[in-house]
Amino acid sequence: MGPLDRFLASCREVPFVVTLHDVVQAGEIGRSAAVRTRPVEALRASPPPSLTALVSRVPPPASFRRESEAAADHAPDVTILRDITGRSTCEGTIEDFTRYFRNRFETLTRMLRGRRELGGAQDISRARRSTREVRFLGMISDIRPTKSGHRILELEDATDRISVLVLSNSPPAAETFVMDEVVGVVGKVNDRGLVIAESIVRPDVPVAKTFPGIGEHLRAAFVSDIHVGSTTFLDEKWSKLAAWLSSDDEIARSLRYLVVSGDVVDGIGVYPRQDEELSIDDIYGQYEALARMMAALPDHLTAVMIPGNHDAVRPAEPQPALPAPIQKLFDSNLIFAGNPSVVSLHGIKVLAYHGRSMDDFVSTIPGMNYHRPLDMMKDMLKMRHLAPIYGGKTPIAPEAEDHLIIDPVPDIFATGHVHSVGVDTYRGVVLVNSSTWQAQTPYQKMRNIEPLPARLPIVDLATGQAVIKEF
Ligand SMILES: [Fe+2]
Repeated sequence: MGPLDRFLASCREVPFVVTLHDVVQAGEIGRSAAVRTRPVEALRASPPPSLTALVSRVPPPASFRRESEAAADHAPDVTILRDITGRSTCEGTIEDFTRYFRNRFETLTRMLRGRRELGGAQDISRARRSTREVRFLGMISDIRPTKSGHRILELEDATDRISVLVLSNSPPAAETFVMDEVVGVVGKVNDRGLVIAESIVRPDVPVAKTFPGIGEHLRAAFVSDIHVGSTTFLDEKWSKLAAWLSSDDEIARSLRYLVVSGDVVDGIGVYPRQDEELSIDDIYGQYEALARMMAALPDHLTAVMIPGNHDAVRPAEPQPALPAPIQKLFDSNLIFAGNPSVVSLHGIKVLAYHGRSMDDFVSTIPGMNYHRPLDMMKDMLKMRHLAPIYGGKTPIAPEAEDHLIIDPVPDIFATGHVHSVGVDTYRGVVLVNSSTWQAQTPYQKMRNIEPLPARLPIVDLATGQAVIKEF
């Protein structure tokens, strides 16, 4: 019995969200997903990281500085609201993948059904037979251009599939769609059974959301992609950062939290001939060096650290927190969480995600590039999914519940990975992409990629106002 037969045999009804491509991939991805802690040698290569910042909202430092609280006067208030650590149940079987995609589809369609525009949405099998205006929900299983410059989306649900024509002069033509995202369609069926889309609705975040804010001007700073152990790790820049954090500067003293969004060390064997670019060629040695760096930071700073694709945990997302033998190297001022995680800092909900899926956004969406992490983050919020495109560079572990769905809507959404930097807002959600502490690598040089290292985004937890400080 081949994998497709086994897969079909495992389904109680005709599968609707797992494509043939998924099934073919299931064996390999599933096996890797089942291993909680993979040898570091097996970790996958880094992306071609990024180039120019997109700092679209930097308020003048004077207004940012006006009021500050001393972080040392406030006890930390950290709760991990959502992450996979200790809760992984999947073994990577085909049944796991079926269950995973059902959960993804059901959760996102539940969000869409709450949208006024989609009231009375039908199953696709009923919509197909309709001759009037139709509304339905589905997962995109194919996107193709027509000869006349329009686009056709294939949508699937549990009952059937349907073709949706997006005319190049219609409002939805301005949108970019990706494979496997879940959308709602309002349109009319033509005499050939094709739906002409009038609007395409995404789960999105509420328009009216505002930043909740806390009573005190305490702040959080964001770092990622430190890449300790690499010869291109920026030791001097980090020392400058550490000195500033311990200084009398009122913003430095107001920093209560440090969110560390993955790729904290360079790892071992992450890409071919990496050993030639390592100053520390032992994985524990790399984490020990990082632990010393973190221990040297001031006591009023509580750090929350998640892993990235260079770290020593399974590469399949959601990734659990760094394993206990590594956690033991660090002092108690550091809280370990999975990738992604939703963490409450003084009641402010922070979604921290390393950002591996941006590789798939860049390779899939025409015109997208590593300069534009904030645009990709906005797309993720619109789709309410951190890694909607399945089967690309982002390995996904088929957990019972889809931890890559963005729920709840965060107050701050933080990513790293692309070695760029930027802050912005989208519908009241503060967006932070957190730079790197690694200079241009030979790989980046070869590809003419200019990173933007040693920039520190800082968010005021009272107002949501964000600035970037350069070191
Ligand atoms: Fe990364």
